[in-house]
Amino acid sequence: GFTSVQKAPQPSFPYSEDEYANVEWDGLGFGLIPTDYMYMNKCRGDHQFGEGQLNVYGNIQLSPSAGVLNYGQGVFEGTKAYRKENGQLLLFRPEENAVRMQIGAERMCMPSPSVDQFVDALKQTALANRRWVPPAGKGSLYLRPLLIGTGPVLGVSPAPEYTFLVYASPVANYFKEGSAPLNLYVEEEFDRASRRGTGSVKTISNYAPVLKAQMRAKTRGFSEVLYLDSATKKNVEEVSSCNIFIAKGKRITTPATNGTILAGITRKSVIEIAQDHGYDVEERGIAVDELAEAHEVFCTGTAVGVVPVGTITYGAKRMEYKTGSATICQDLQSTLSGIQMGTLEDNKGWVL
Ligand code: COI
Repeated sequence: GFTSVQKAPQPSFPYSEDEYANVEWDGLGFGLIPTDYMYMNKCRGDHQFGEGQLNVYGNIQLSPSAGVLNYGQGVFEGTKAYRKENGQLLLFRPEENAVRMQIGAERMCMPSPSVDQFVDALKQTALANRRWVPPAGKGSLYLRPLLIGTGPVLGVSPAPEYTFLVYASPVANYFKEGSAPLNLYVEEEFDRASRRGTGSVKTISNYAPVLKAQMRAKTRGFSEVLYLDSATKKNVEEVSSCNIFIAKGKRITTPATNGTILAGITRKSVIEIAQDHGYDVEERGIAVDELAEAHEVFCTGTAVGVVPVGTITYGAKRMEYKTGSATICQDLQSTLSGIQMGTLEDNKGWVL
Protein backbone atom coordinates (compact mmCIF):
# COMPACT_ATOMS: atom_id res chain seq x y z
CA GLY A 1 0.00 0.00 0.00
CA PHE A 2 1.04 3.57 -0.42
CA THR A 3 0.63 6.06 2.33
CA SER A 4 1.93 9.37 1.17
CA VAL A 5 2.73 11.35 -1.94
CA GLN A 6 4.02 14.80 -2.53
CA LYS A 7 1.47 17.58 -2.59
CA ALA A 8 -1.59 15.56 -1.69
CA PRO A 9 -4.16 18.16 -0.69
CA GLN A 10 -5.02 16.41 2.55
CA PRO A 11 -2.93 15.32 5.54
CA SER A 12 -1.18 11.99 5.31
CA PHE A 13 -2.49 8.69 6.64
CA PRO A 14 -3.83 6.89 8.67
CA TYR A 15 -7.05 7.68 6.92
CA SER A 16 -9.11 4.58 7.62
CA GLU A 17 -11.38 6.54 9.92
CA ASP A 18 -12.19 9.00 7.14
CA GLU A 19 -15.74 9.71 6.47
CA TYR A 20 -17.00 7.92 3.43
CA ALA A 21 -18.62 9.77 0.58
CA ASN A 22 -22.38 9.44 0.40
CA VAL A 23 -22.63 6.52 -2.02
CA GLU A 24 -24.89 3.47 -2.00
CA TRP A 25 -21.95 1.06 -1.85
CA ASP A 26 -24.05 -2.04 -2.40
CA GLY A 27 -25.54 -0.88 -5.67
CA LEU A 28 -22.38 0.02 -7.59
CA GLY A 29 -22.16 -0.72 -11.29
CA PHE A 30 -19.89 0.94 -13.81
CA GLY A 31 -21.22 4.44 -14.29
CA LEU A 32 -19.65 7.79 -13.56
CA ILE A 33 -19.97 9.00 -9.98
CA PRO A 34 -18.02 12.27 -9.93
CA THR A 35 -15.48 12.61 -7.10
CA ASP A 36 -13.77 15.59 -5.43
CA TYR A 37 -10.51 16.04 -7.33
CA MET A 38 -8.85 15.41 -10.66
CA TYR A 39 -5.21 15.62 -11.63
CA MET A 40 -4.18 17.94 -14.48
CA ASN A 41 -0.92 18.46 -16.30
CA LYS A 42 -0.37 20.37 -19.54
CA CYS A 43 2.56 20.52 -21.89
CA ARG A 44 3.55 21.91 -25.25
CA GLY A 45 3.92 19.43 -28.07
CA ASP A 46 7.64 20.05 -28.34
CA HIS A 47 8.18 19.80 -24.56
CA GLN A 48 8.07 17.16 -21.83
CA PHE A 49 5.51 17.10 -19.04
CA GLY A 50 6.52 19.01 -15.91
CA GLU A 51 4.73 18.97 -12.60
CA GLY A 52 0.95 18.65 -12.55
CA GLN A 53 -1.54 19.51 -9.85
CA LEU A 54 -4.83 18.44 -8.33
CA ASN A 55 -7.84 20.54 -9.23
CA VAL A 56 -11.39 20.38 -8.01
CA TYR A 57 -13.24 17.93 -10.31
CA GLY A 58 -15.19 19.72 -13.00
CA ASN A 59 -15.57 20.51 -16.65
CA ILE A 60 -12.53 21.45 -18.66
CA GLN A 61 -12.36 24.19 -21.27
CA LEU A 62 -11.23 23.28 -24.75
CA SER A 63 -10.69 25.15 -27.96
CA PRO A 64 -13.30 24.08 -30.52
CA SER A 65 -10.33 23.22 -32.71
CA ALA A 66 -8.59 21.05 -30.10
CA GLY A 67 -6.84 18.13 -31.80
CA VAL A 68 -8.73 15.60 -29.69
CA LEU A 69 -12.15 17.00 -30.66
CA ASN A 70 -11.48 17.24 -34.37
CA TYR A 71 -9.17 14.37 -35.16
CA GLY A 72 -9.35 12.09 -32.13
CA GLN A 73 -5.76 12.55 -30.99
CA GLY A 74 -5.94 10.88 -27.59
CA VAL A 75 -5.21 7.78 -25.55
CA PHE A 76 -6.60 6.64 -22.23
CA GLU A 77 -5.92 4.13 -19.51
CA GLY A 78 -7.91 2.40 -16.81
CA THR A 79 -6.74 1.15 -13.44
CA LYS A 80 -8.27 0.64 -10.00
CA ALA A 81 -7.45 1.56 -6.41
CA TYR A 82 -8.69 -0.93 -3.79
CA ARG A 83 -9.23 -0.39 -0.09
CA LYS A 84 -7.93 -3.09 2.23
CA GLU A 85 -9.74 -4.06 5.43
CA ASN A 86 -7.16 -2.00 7.36
CA GLY A 87 -7.97 1.09 5.30
CA GLN A 88 -4.80 1.08 3.23
CA LEU A 89 -5.15 1.83 -0.49
CA LEU A 90 -3.67 -0.48 -3.12
CA LEU A 91 -2.83 0.04 -6.78
CA PHE A 92 -2.31 -2.87 -9.19
CA ARG A 93 0.67 -2.75 -11.58
CA PRO A 94 0.30 0.98 -12.35
CA GLU A 95 3.69 1.06 -14.14
CA GLU A 96 2.20 -1.24 -16.77
CA ASN A 97 -0.46 1.35 -17.54
CA ALA A 98 2.23 4.04 -17.67
CA VAL A 99 4.24 2.12 -20.24
CA ARG A 100 1.18 1.30 -22.31
CA MET A 101 0.22 4.97 -22.36
CA GLN A 102 3.73 5.83 -23.56
CA ILE A 103 3.50 3.30 -26.39
CA GLY A 104 0.06 4.62 -27.40
CA ALA A 105 1.25 8.21 -27.20
CA GLU A 106 4.16 7.45 -29.49
CA ARG A 107 1.76 5.87 -32.01
CA MET A 108 -0.46 8.97 -31.86
CA CYS A 109 2.44 11.48 -32.01
CA MET A 110 1.97 12.84 -28.51
CA PRO A 111 4.41 13.50 -25.65
CA SER A 112 3.68 11.32 -22.62
CA PRO A 113 4.32 11.49 -18.87
CA SER A 114 7.22 9.50 -17.45
CA VAL A 115 6.41 6.31 -15.55
CA ASP A 116 7.09 8.15 -12.28
CA GLN A 117 4.88 11.10 -13.23
CA PHE A 118 2.10 8.75 -14.27
CA VAL A 119 2.22 6.62 -11.11
CA ASP A 120 2.48 9.72 -8.92
CA ALA A 121 -0.59 11.18 -10.65
CA LEU A 122 -2.53 7.99 -9.90
CA LYS A 123 -1.50 8.06 -6.25
CA GLN A 124 -2.38 11.72 -5.87
CA THR A 125 -5.78 11.19 -7.48
CA ALA A 126 -6.59 8.12 -5.38
CA LEU A 127 -5.49 9.75 -2.12
CA ALA A 128 -7.30 13.00 -2.76
CA ASN A 129 -10.49 11.07 -3.51
CA ARG A 130 -10.02 8.41 -0.84
CA ARG A 131 -13.47 8.88 0.69
CA TRP A 132 -14.79 7.61 -2.68
CA VAL A 133 -12.85 4.34 -2.55
CA PRO A 134 -15.50 1.71 -1.74
CA PRO A 135 -15.23 -0.32 1.48
CA ALA A 136 -13.21 -3.54 1.11
CA GLY A 137 -15.11 -6.05 -0.98
CA LYS A 138 -17.63 -3.55 -2.38
CA GLY A 139 -15.71 -2.47 -5.46
CA SER A 140 -12.88 -0.11 -6.25
CA LEU A 141 -12.06 3.42 -7.31
CA TYR A 142 -11.62 3.33 -11.07
CA LEU A 143 -8.91 5.74 -12.18
CA ARG A 144 -9.10 7.04 -15.72
CA PRO A 145 -5.92 8.66 -17.06
CA LEU A 146 -6.46 10.59 -20.31
CA LEU A 147 -3.81 12.04 -22.60
CA ILE A 148 -5.35 14.31 -25.21
CA GLY A 149 -4.33 16.87 -27.80
CA THR A 150 -5.87 20.05 -26.43
CA GLY A 151 -4.07 22.62 -28.58
CA PRO A 152 -5.84 24.00 -31.67
CA VAL A 153 -5.36 22.49 -35.13
CA LEU A 154 -7.16 22.98 -38.40
CA GLY A 155 -5.21 20.87 -40.84
CA VAL A 156 -4.52 17.28 -39.95
CA SER A 157 -1.44 17.54 -37.75
CA PRO A 158 -0.33 16.90 -34.17
CA ALA A 159 -1.79 19.41 -31.69
CA PRO A 160 0.56 22.08 -30.30
CA GLU A 161 -0.50 21.39 -26.69
CA TYR A 162 -1.42 18.27 -24.66
CA THR A 163 -3.24 17.62 -21.43
CA PHE A 164 -2.65 14.62 -19.19
CA LEU A 165 -5.42 14.28 -16.64
CA VAL A 166 -6.69 11.63 -14.24
CA TYR A 167 -10.20 11.45 -12.89
CA ALA A 168 -11.86 8.83 -10.72
CA SER A 169 -15.16 7.08 -10.09
CA PRO A 170 -16.18 4.37 -7.62
CA VAL A 171 -17.20 1.24 -9.53
CA ALA A 172 -18.07 -2.42 -9.13
CA ASN A 173 -19.41 -4.75 -11.83
CA TYR A 174 -18.91 -3.62 -15.41
CA PHE A 175 -21.66 -5.69 -16.99
CA LYS A 176 -25.27 -5.52 -15.92
CA GLU A 177 -25.00 -9.31 -15.63
CA GLY A 178 -22.82 -8.67 -12.54
CA SER A 179 -20.53 -11.65 -12.30
CA ALA A 180 -23.06 -13.91 -14.07
CA PRO A 181 -21.98 -15.45 -17.39
CA LEU A 182 -21.99 -13.30 -20.52
CA ASN A 183 -23.80 -14.18 -23.72
CA LEU A 184 -21.64 -13.07 -26.64
CA TYR A 185 -22.52 -12.59 -30.28
CA VAL A 186 -19.89 -13.07 -32.98
CA GLU A 187 -19.86 -9.87 -35.03
CA GLU A 188 -19.47 -10.69 -38.71
CA GLU A 189 -20.23 -7.32 -40.29
CA PHE A 190 -18.10 -4.75 -38.45
CA ASP A 191 -14.43 -4.95 -37.49
CA ARG A 192 -12.73 -3.55 -34.41
CA ALA A 193 -9.17 -3.23 -35.65
CA SER A 194 -7.11 -3.68 -38.77
CA ARG A 195 -3.57 -4.94 -39.20
CA ARG A 196 -1.04 -2.15 -38.60
CA GLY A 197 -3.85 0.07 -37.33
CA THR A 198 -4.22 1.13 -33.69
CA GLY A 199 -6.02 -1.88 -32.24
CA SER A 200 -3.17 -2.76 -29.89
CA VAL A 201 -3.06 0.62 -28.15
CA LYS A 202 -5.71 2.38 -26.07
CA THR A 203 -6.58 5.20 -28.42
CA ILE A 204 -9.89 6.89 -27.75
CA SER A 205 -10.63 6.41 -31.45
CA ASN A 206 -10.88 2.62 -31.04
CA TYR A 207 -14.00 2.86 -28.92
CA ALA A 208 -16.77 4.89 -30.57
CA PRO A 209 -16.67 2.59 -33.62
CA VAL A 210 -17.69 -0.41 -31.49
CA LEU A 211 -20.92 1.21 -30.33
CA LYS A 212 -23.01 0.30 -33.32
CA ALA A 213 -22.40 -3.44 -33.13
CA GLN A 214 -22.69 -3.29 -29.34
CA MET A 215 -26.09 -1.58 -29.49
CA ARG A 216 -27.37 -4.04 -32.05
CA ALA A 217 -26.21 -7.02 -29.99
CA LYS A 218 -27.81 -5.61 -26.84
CA THR A 219 -31.08 -5.07 -28.67
CA ARG A 220 -31.00 -8.75 -29.54
CA GLY A 221 -30.43 -9.70 -25.90
CA PHE A 222 -26.68 -10.33 -25.96
CA SER A 223 -24.20 -8.92 -23.47
CA GLU A 224 -21.59 -7.86 -26.03
CA VAL A 225 -20.01 -8.76 -29.34
CA LEU A 226 -16.94 -10.83 -30.08
CA TYR A 227 -14.90 -9.42 -32.97
CA LEU A 228 -13.16 -11.39 -35.70
CA ASP A 229 -9.95 -10.38 -37.47
CA SER A 230 -10.60 -7.96 -40.31
CA ALA A 231 -8.34 -9.69 -42.85
CA THR A 232 -9.84 -13.20 -42.93
CA LYS A 233 -12.86 -13.10 -40.59
CA LYS A 234 -11.74 -16.54 -39.44
CA ASN A 235 -9.99 -15.72 -36.17
CA VAL A 236 -11.31 -14.53 -32.85
CA GLU A 237 -9.96 -11.18 -31.62
CA GLU A 238 -11.60 -9.62 -28.58
CA VAL A 239 -14.74 -8.08 -27.10
CA SER A 240 -15.41 -4.29 -27.21
CA SER A 241 -13.97 -3.67 -23.76
CA CYS A 242 -12.01 -6.81 -22.84
CA ASN A 243 -9.75 -9.64 -24.03
CA ILE A 244 -10.91 -13.22 -24.44
CA PHE A 245 -9.55 -16.65 -23.39
CA ILE A 246 -10.71 -20.16 -24.22
CA ALA A 247 -9.93 -23.24 -22.15
CA LYS A 248 -9.95 -26.93 -23.03
CA GLY A 249 -8.78 -29.38 -20.41
CA LYS A 250 -5.65 -27.89 -18.82
CA ARG A 251 -4.88 -25.76 -21.88
CA ILE A 252 -5.75 -22.06 -21.95
CA THR A 253 -5.48 -20.08 -25.17
CA THR A 254 -5.81 -16.38 -25.94
CA PRO A 255 -5.23 -14.46 -29.20
CA ALA A 256 -1.60 -13.37 -29.59
CA THR A 257 -0.96 -9.61 -29.48
CA ASN A 258 -0.06 -9.22 -33.12
CA GLY A 259 -1.10 -5.60 -33.59
CA THR A 260 -4.88 -5.85 -33.46
CA ILE A 261 -5.28 -7.13 -29.90
CA LEU A 262 -5.29 -4.68 -26.98
CA ALA A 263 -2.34 -5.54 -24.74
CA GLY A 264 -4.40 -5.99 -21.59
CA ILE A 265 -2.74 -5.81 -18.20
CA THR A 266 -5.35 -8.16 -16.77
CA ARG A 267 -4.72 -10.42 -19.77
CA LYS A 268 -1.00 -10.48 -19.03
CA SER A 269 -1.56 -11.05 -15.31
CA VAL A 270 -4.04 -13.89 -15.90
CA ILE A 271 -1.53 -15.59 -18.22
CA GLU A 272 1.08 -15.50 -15.47
CA ILE A 273 -1.29 -16.73 -12.77
CA ALA A 274 -2.50 -19.54 -15.04
CA GLN A 275 1.09 -20.67 -15.66
CA ASP A 276 1.76 -20.61 -11.91
CA HIS A 277 -1.36 -22.75 -11.39
CA GLY A 278 -0.01 -25.38 -13.77
CA TYR A 279 -2.08 -24.63 -16.85
CA ASP A 280 -0.56 -24.79 -20.28
CA VAL A 281 -1.00 -21.28 -21.74
CA GLU A 282 -0.80 -20.49 -25.44
CA GLU A 283 -0.90 -17.12 -27.19
CA ARG A 284 -1.71 -17.64 -30.85
CA GLY A 285 -4.40 -17.10 -33.45
CA ILE A 286 -7.69 -18.77 -32.46
CA ALA A 287 -9.89 -19.92 -35.30
CA VAL A 288 -13.53 -19.08 -34.71
CA ASP A 289 -14.30 -22.77 -35.29
CA GLU A 290 -12.31 -23.61 -32.16
CA LEU A 291 -15.03 -21.98 -30.09
CA ALA A 292 -17.12 -25.08 -30.72
CA GLU A 293 -14.56 -27.31 -28.98
CA ALA A 294 -13.75 -25.11 -25.98
CA HIS A 295 -14.92 -26.17 -22.51
CA GLU A 296 -14.73 -22.69 -21.02
CA VAL A 297 -14.53 -19.15 -22.32
CA PHE A 298 -13.84 -16.07 -20.24
CA CYS A 299 -13.06 -12.39 -20.67
CA THR A 300 -10.47 -10.25 -18.92
CA GLY A 301 -10.01 -6.52 -18.49
CA THR A 302 -9.38 -3.88 -15.86
CA ALA A 303 -12.93 -2.63 -15.89
CA VAL A 304 -14.42 -6.08 -16.48
CA GLY A 305 -12.21 -8.22 -14.22
CA VAL A 306 -12.28 -11.93 -15.09
CA VAL A 307 -15.79 -12.90 -16.16
CA PRO A 308 -17.21 -16.15 -17.48
CA VAL A 309 -18.85 -16.50 -20.89
CA GLY A 310 -21.89 -18.79 -20.82
CA THR A 311 -22.76 -18.80 -24.50
CA ILE A 312 -21.41 -17.60 -27.83
CA THR A 313 -23.71 -17.26 -30.83
CA TYR A 314 -22.02 -17.55 -34.23
CA GLY A 315 -24.52 -17.25 -37.06
CA ALA A 316 -27.20 -19.83 -36.37
CA LYS A 317 -25.00 -21.75 -33.93
CA ARG A 318 -25.20 -21.26 -30.16
CA MET A 319 -22.34 -22.72 -28.14
CA GLU A 320 -22.51 -23.26 -24.39
CA TYR A 321 -19.68 -23.30 -21.88
CA LYS A 322 -19.06 -24.52 -18.38
CA THR A 323 -19.44 -21.78 -15.74
CA GLY A 324 -19.76 -21.56 -11.98
CA SER A 325 -17.57 -22.87 -9.19
CA ALA A 326 -14.81 -25.38 -9.96
CA THR A 327 -13.99 -23.66 -13.24
CA ILE A 328 -10.64 -22.38 -14.48
CA CYS A 329 -12.23 -18.95 -14.78
CA GLN A 330 -13.25 -19.02 -11.13
CA ASP A 331 -9.77 -20.17 -10.06
CA LEU A 332 -8.02 -17.37 -11.96
CA GLN A 333 -10.58 -14.74 -10.97
CA SER A 334 -10.29 -15.47 -7.26
CA THR A 335 -6.49 -15.45 -7.31
CA LEU A 336 -6.27 -12.22 -9.29
CA SER A 337 -8.87 -10.36 -7.25
CA GLY A 338 -7.30 -11.64 -4.01
CA ILE A 339 -3.96 -10.12 -5.00
CA GLN A 340 -5.61 -6.89 -6.13
CA MET A 341 -7.66 -6.50 -2.95
CA GLY A 342 -4.80 -7.48 -0.67
CA THR A 343 -6.45 -10.62 0.74
CA LEU A 344 -3.90 -12.91 -0.94
CA GLU A 345 -0.18 -12.46 -0.61
CA ASP A 346 1.36 -10.52 -3.48
CA ASN A 347 4.47 -12.57 -4.14
CA LYS A 348 4.93 -10.99 -7.57
CA GLY A 349 5.36 -7.39 -6.52
CA TRP A 350 2.26 -6.38 -8.48
CA VAL A 351 0.63 -4.33 -5.78
CA LEU A 352 1.69 -0.87 -4.72
C1 COI B 1 -10.60 -0.89 -18.84
O1 COI B 1 -10.74 -2.09 -18.71
O2 COI B 1 -10.16 -0.17 -17.95
C2 COI B 1 -10.96 -0.25 -20.06
O3 COI B 1 -10.37 0.71 -20.38
C3 COI B 1 -12.06 -0.77 -20.84
C4 COI B 1 -13.02 0.31 -21.03
C5 COI B 1 -13.29 0.63 -22.42
C6 COI B 1 -14.12 0.42 -20.08
